[in-house]
Amino acid sequence: MSKHGSKVAYGSHQIRSQCIARRYVEERFRTKLKNAKINLFIRRTKSKSELLKKYGIEKYDLHPGYEFPESVRDLIPSNVPEYITPPGKNYVKQIVRALYYFKQCALIGPSGTGKTHIVYFIAELTGLPIWEVNCGLQTSTYDLFGRYIGLGKENWIDGQIILWCRNGGILYLDEANMMKQDIAARLNPILDTRGHIVLTEKDNEIVKRHPYGYVIISMNPFSSEFAGTKPLNAAFRRRMSVWINFSYLSIGNQISPEEIKLIQKRSGVDEDTATRIVRAGAELRRQYQMGDLPYGPSPGDLMNWAILIADGSDPLEAAEESIVGTTSDDVEIQEAVRRIIKGFFS
Ligand SMILES: Nc1ncnc2c1ncn2[C@@H]1O[C@H](COP(=O)(O)OP(=O)(O)OP(=O)(O)O)[C@@H](O)[C@H]1O
Ligand SMILES: [Mg+2]
Repeated sequence: MSKHGSKVAYGSHQIRSQCIARRYVEERFRTKLKNAKINLFIRRTKSKSELLKKYGIEKYDLHPGYEFPESVRDLIPSNVPEYITPPGKNYVKQIVRALYYFKQCALIGPSGTGKTHIVYFIAELTGLPIWEVNCGLQTSTYDLFGRYIGLGKENWIDGQIILWCRNGGILYLDEANMMKQDIAARLNPILDTRGHIVLTEKDNEIVKRHPYGYVIISMNPFSSEFAGTKPLNAAFRRRMSVWINFSYLSIGNQISPEEIKLIQKRSGVDEDTATRIVRAGAELRRQYQMGDLPYGPSPGDLMNWAILIADGSDPLEAAEESIVGTTSDDVEIQEAVRRIIKGFFS
């Protein structure tokens, strides 16, 4: 355990972060435990330089000539599975370019479209440590900015945001539209040309933003269905120069062969089953986007479904455990989901 936080497993390697995205990691653990024999991750087959070339980001060096100190190097993720880009998009390039020119950007899209995944993937590709804050959790200002411990004012501990200011890397603010207003207001000076933060808790110490300190915020679109979201504070919104809208790999009749391969590789089902799963998922997502269903399944949900099938379950029974319940508690909606799924598996 380092002074910066606890160890968190990501695939076979270990990364550390204080406020790691809970669901993302839990999902990985659950999946891993369910079927240890199945190879869950697409092993990195391409070298880093090949990937930089593939995404067209070789020219955007985000820390030219600078090596991050040993103390934060293990916050740089490793062995993150490759991010599969939806047809006609290059989110990786859009994000890296936004960081290069503007130092910060915002990702917006429905749950499960891979926002958290891509941030880790980019951090690994560009060699940047990640400082993650889940704004939906009741994280205190102490955790974010710091505090004195013990008696008196001798022992100060930096919070996550201050650690990022001093050390650089990516500050990843997940579920940013759930952030408390007072925290958003304190972040404003660091996100504009002032580039510093005033630590009122520590005799107004001024902490400057590290020259290689980047910010990525992500969120679900503001709507009643995502409980707890609110329209993003206008001052904060203005400071994000680039907004990238995320969408599903497959939706409706538009089926991504890469998503089929992804499901196949991570679960072990055959191509025909993976295709049916993705087709059913794409239809459910279409109906979700039309407003007919309350949720559209993520690739992670489809993977869970596929893993149960690979383990020997009947596809409809497996869907019952993985997809039907995830979509809604409402029995009528559940019945509608079953009908859609049967259409692809009968
Ligand atoms: N394009 C993709 N390529 C590879 N894996 C993907 C992709 N999109 C999603 N996934 C997988 O789907 C699951 C959900 O992705 P992730 O948690 O990144 O979504 P998210 O957009 O951050 O969702 P939320 O808004 O709920 O936080 C993960 O297991 C992730 O690896
Ligand atoms: Mg996320």
